[in-house]
Amino acid sequence: MNPMNRLAAVVSLAAVLPFGSQAAESQGAVEVVHYWTSGGEAKSVDVLKKIIEKDGFVWRDGAVAGGGGAAAMTVLKTRAVSGNPPSAAQIKGPDIQEWGRLGLLTSIDEVAKANDWDNLLPRQVSDSMKYDGHYVAVPVNIHRINWLWLNPQVLKKAGVTELPTTLEQLYAAGDKLKAAGFIAIAHGGQAWQDTTIFENLLLSIMGADGFRKSFIDMDPATLTGAQMTAVFSALRRLQAYLDPDGSGQDWNLETAKVINGKAGMQIMGDWAKSEWTAAGKTAGSDYACVPFPGSQGAYSYTVDSLAMFKPSSNNDTPANTAARNDLARVALEPEFQYVFNQNKGSIPVIKGLDMSRFDSCAQASAKDFATAEQAGTLAPSMAFNMSTSQAVQGAVFDVVTQFMNDRNADPSQEGARLLAAIKATQ
Ligand code: GAL
Repeated sequence: MNPMNRLAAVVSLAAVLPFGSQAAESQGAVEVVHYWTSGGEAKSVDVLKKIIEKDGFVWRDGAVAGGGGAAAMTVLKTRAVSGNPPSAAQIKGPDIQEWGRLGLLTSIDEVAKANDWDNLLPRQVSDSMKYDGHYVAVPVNIHRINWLWLNPQVLKKAGVTELPTTLEQLYAAGDKLKAAGFIAIAHGGQAWQDTTIFENLLLSIMGADGFRKSFIDMDPATLTGAQMTAVFSALRRLQAYLDPDGSGQDWNLETAKVINGKAGMQIMGDWAKSEWTAAGKTAGSDYACVPFPGSQGAYSYTVDSLAMFKPSSNNDTPANTAARNDLARVALEPEFQYVFNQNKGSIPVIKGLDMSRFDSCAQASAKDFATAEQAGTLAPSMAFNMSTSQAVQGAVFDVVTQFMNDRNADPSQEGARLLAAIKATQ
């Protein structure tokens, strides 16, 4: 049984034995399960909390530490199973549909209609926020994944004179950084971080088309082809540049190594920028961002969104509904979009905001998004839940992690492993 089916079985059992934990209260409250716990990300959530409180509601923080959200999803499943869901949770992409199918999400059409979400949001995004034609989630941002973050002072000390735009240049920069005694690429050895690198290499080598064939169509010929061997070979090569002390490390602790000059680069989505911002650093001078080498022109992304849960009977009060609707409304208000995304490192998800209020990396991101949208080179991230179910994502994580851990594994065999692991989930 795949994890979602297992969840379905337990949830239907829980429906027979419901219980809620919080007594109804007169002041409406929202509880939001999320995993934005790094310094910069916590600041971003705080923006939302303050607005909700200013609007007269109680904010209950459901933060669960753990980058990429696997731990938060485990907590969420347990809570759903015990009939005690939060008001909202950070759930993305196809998973929204899975939770919708389980009958656990609630419609926020009323708020969406009143605020014209259909016209405010890019079509691709609004479609994925709906289950069965009804809005059940609100998006808050667009995060780009195919980024490389660099500390120019460190590069200079190591004699790297140009920002890498090809994989060969990336390896050459890595060699110089290592020779000068720096960590070349700050990286935490966790499955989702390893897969971030794998996914970026795949985009670089196969382009957006190959990316979609791999992670949306799960096309056997693409998954097992010669280019996939090239991706795993590149992963092996890149591995030589990763932080030797990175085993199990959180992504933000690795970002800190680039910020404080111990490491030269990091391959990470633009939530990494939240740490630079929180440290008071300026894009373009204190740090640089370039598209992951070789993936210029393509744009892999994830859309953070808050899915709204049907309340347990104890929490089902008009005041709590008002609080939930306020959360949904505020999330797409321009002022929130500006401040939240400036802190979070992402770009606004609503159309037409003034990007001159953002730093140079966010401006480049918005421009590249628009270009990729036109060119048809947007790539919904697999590692960040935009293209597959959690079960398929988990299968890819396992193959990538095993490959990274087994230095003798043969890159030419990995495509077949990937295909078998994905098939086993279906
Ligand atoms: C992603 C999420 C980002 C960021 C990152 C690291 O899944 O979209 O907002 O939190 O994980 O935890």
